[in-house]
Amino acid sequence: MSLIKVQKIMSNELAKRTFISRPPEPPAGFLLNDPTDSVFIGITRRFGVPFTWTYNILTNPHISVVGITGSGKSFFVKTFLIRASYVWGTSAIILDWAGEYKAWVKQSGGTIISFGKGDYLNIMDLSGMKPIDRSKQIMNSLDILTDISNFPEQRRITSEALEQAYLNAGFILASAPVPGKEAPTLKDVAHLLDEKLAEGTYEYPAELENAIYRLRQFSREGEDYFARKSTIDLDKIISSGLVDLDLSGLPDEKFRALAALFMLQTLKEKMRSEGWSAAKGLKALIVLDEAWKVASDERSDAITIIREGRKYQFGLIVASQNPTDINEAIFSNVGTNIILKIKFQKFMDYLQGSLNFSQFIRSEIGKLGVGQAAIDMAFQTSSQFPSTFIINRVIGEVPLDVYTITLADMLNESEMRDLTILKEYSFEKPFLKSKFIDSNINTDAIDSILSVLDSKNRIVDLKEFVRVLLAAKLSRDAVISFLRSIGISDSIITRSFSYGE
Ligand SMILES: Nc1ncnc2c1ncn2[C@@H]1O[C@H](COP(=O)(O)OP(=O)(O)O)[C@@H](O)[C@H]1O
Ligand SMILES: [Mg+2]
Repeated sequence: MSLIKVQKIMSNELAKRTFISRPPEPPAGFLLNDPTDSVFIGITRRFGVPFTWTYNILTNPHISVVGITGSGKSFFVKTFLIRASYVWGTSAIILDWAGEYKAWVKQSGGTIISFGKGDYLNIMDLSGMKPIDRSKQIMNSLDILTDISNFPEQRRITSEALEQAYLNAGFILASAPVPGKEAPTLKDVAHLLDEKLAEGTYEYPAELENAIYRLRQFSREGEDYFARKSTIDLDKIISSGLVDLDLSGLPDEKFRALAALFMLQTLKEKMRSEGWSAAKGLKALIVLDEAWKVASDERSDAITIIREGRKYQFGLIVASQNPTDINEAIFSNVGTNIILKIKFQKFMDYLQGSLNFSQFIRSEIGKLGVGQAAIDMAFQTSSQFPSTFIINRVIGEVPLDVYTITLADMLNESEMRDLTILKEYSFEKPFLKSKFIDSNINTDAIDSILSVLDSKNRIVDLKEFVRVLLAAKLSRDAVISFLRSIGISDSIITRSFSYGE
C-alpha cells in the first residue's frame, strides 16, 4: 500500500518536471518550411529547430510585433523585410513615424520619401480612384483626426466642397479619372469655401468659418505638405521595392497620421485593383511602426487590409511598445505575434488573455533579452499543441554603418536642379573616421561626433552636421577643411555656417 502511494507522488513530481524542463513547442513540421518559400527568423529554444516563416499554414500573413523600447521590434521588421524581398521579391512600404528606418533603407538601396523635407503629397490625388471615393476617404480621415463628425453641417459643406473642387477641375465624380489629369488640392477646396463666405448668403457663417479653419490647418503656406502637387508617383509605390515614407519631418502627430491614413487608403485600393496572382509568397508588406493612432482606430484602412490582405498577398506588420494600442480587430486577426521583452504586467495580462499562453511562457517573456522573442502563430488546421514558443534570438543581417549628410534644405531651386551638385553624401563609418583622423580630429571628439550622429539615426542635414562638429569643440577652420575634403563647395560651406548660427 505504502509503495503505491510513493509511486503516485513520484509520477506527479515527474509530470511537473517534464513540464518545466520541456517548454512546449509546435512540432518541427510546422516550424521548418521549404527554404525557397519561407523566411528564416531564428532557432527555437527547446529543440533547436530553425524556424522559417510562411503564411501558407497560417490563418493570414499579418504580423504584430510588441515589446518595450529597445527590445528589437524594428530589428525584427528590417530582417523580415529583407529576407521576404530575397525569397519572394516582396515590396515593402514603411510608414516610418520617427524616421528610424531611413538609414537602413538607404543602405539597402531603397527609396526614401521625406514628407516635410522636400516631398509633398496631394491627398486629393486619385491614382485611379473615383473622385467620389477619394472624397469619402478624405472625410473619413478628417473624422479620425478631428472632431468634425460632431459638426454635421461643417462636415456636409466640407464634403460638398471637396466634390465641387473635383468637378471644377474637370473630373466626373463617379468615374475613374483620365490618366494625366491634374487633381485639385485642399487649397482649392478651402478657396471654394472662402468664396461661399464672401458671398454672404450662406445661412450659418460660423459653421462655414470653422470648416475653413479646419481645412487651413492642412493647407496653409508652409504647412501645405498634403495640399500641393505630389512629388511621388503613387502608381509605382507598391512595385518600387523598399520604400520608406519618412514622416518624422512633419510638425505633429496629426500630420503624420493624415499621411499614414492616406497611404493606407491608397494601398488598399491598389491591393484590390491588382487582384490575386499566381506568384508564390507575398507581393507587398506594409509596415506600421509606433503608429498608434492609425493602428488603434477601427475606421482606419489598416483593418481593411488585415481583413482582405491574405487573398491579395498583402501583409501588414504592426509594431508597438503598447499592445493595447493595437486595435482588437487587428490583434485578434494577425496570424503571427512576435512578443519581445514586455515589462508591464497589464500588457502581459492583455497578451496572455488574447493568446492564451501558459504561465511558463509568461515568465519566459518577462526574462527575454534584446532580440529574444516568444512567437505565437494561428495555424489554419486546429492544432493539438501549444502555439507559442521561444526563439533564442531573431537572427538578422548585421547592417553596415552608413552616415548620410543631406544638403537639400540649404540649396536654392536652381542648385537643386543642378546635376553637378550632390544633394547628399553617404559615408561608411571607417571612411568617415579616417577622414576625421586626416583632419587631425582627436579620438574623443570623433567618438562623441559619431555617437551624436548615431542618436540621429545617422542622417543629418549639413547645418546640423556643422553644429555637431562645432559642439565637439572643433575649430571653424577644422570644420571648413573637413567639409572641403569631402567635396562640398565653399559657397555651400559658408551658408551652412550662417544657418548654423
Ligand atoms: N535580434 C537582434 N540581434 C542583434 N541586435 C539586435 C537584435 N534586436 C535588436 N538589436 C539591436 O538592439 C537595438 C534596439 O533594437 P530596435 O529594433 O531598434 O528596438 P525597438 O524597435 O524595439 O525599440 C538596436 O541597436 C538593434 O540593432
Ligand atoms: Mg523601433
